[in-house]
Amino acid sequence: MDEDVITHSAEETVAWGRAFAKSLQAPVLVLLTGELGSGKTTLTKGIVAGLNAAEEDEVTSPTFTLLHEYGAGGKVFHGDLYRVESLHDFETLGLEDVFAKPAIVIMEWSEKFPLKTEWPQVRVRLEHLGGDARRICTF
Ligand SMILES: Nc1ncnc2c1ncn2[C@@H]1O[C@H](COP(=O)(O)OP(=O)(O)OP(=O)(O)O)[C@@H](O)[C@H]1O
Ligand SMILES: [Mg+2]
Repeated sequence: MDEDVITHSAEETVAWGRAFAKSLQAPVLVLLTGELGSGKTTLTKGIVAGLNAAEEDEVTSPTFTLLHEYGAGGKVFHGDLYRVESLHDFETLGLEDVFAKPAIVIMEWSEKFPLKTEWPQVRVRLEHLGGDARRICTF
């Protein structure tokens, strides 16, 4: 499903994420790219809620904790590699445990490090278009 949509509020991006979630089946790695504040975490709220793994409000940025787990039994993971500073730190995150059994793994700033998995990948790019407008592309 290659898509290109424009949203005009955080709520619209969350709603798009809820619909997008219906196309996801574990195991899958969802790579979110886009500048700071482009809406990656906001979109993740919709994806996690759409997967019935947590409520929107329970989904917060894993900027400091680096990895959040939602749903019973490791169903959905949400990571953010922005503050991971070295390959050594990246390798001590324990991501091999995350990829040990089928799940839906959503990653922000994954382009910083090589993720070692054969899982299918879906890429989503978010772009600022001025004000509250954002372009969302899957590729
Ligand atoms: N159309 C929109 N879609 C998504 N977020 C929007 C939109 N309009 C405004 N916003 C606001 O932009 C901000 C996006 O922040 P968010 O934390 O989701 O970005 P991020 O890409 O995860 O940033 P970071 O790289 O710092 O983790 C939120 O405050 C959100 O309310
Ligand atoms: Mg974020």
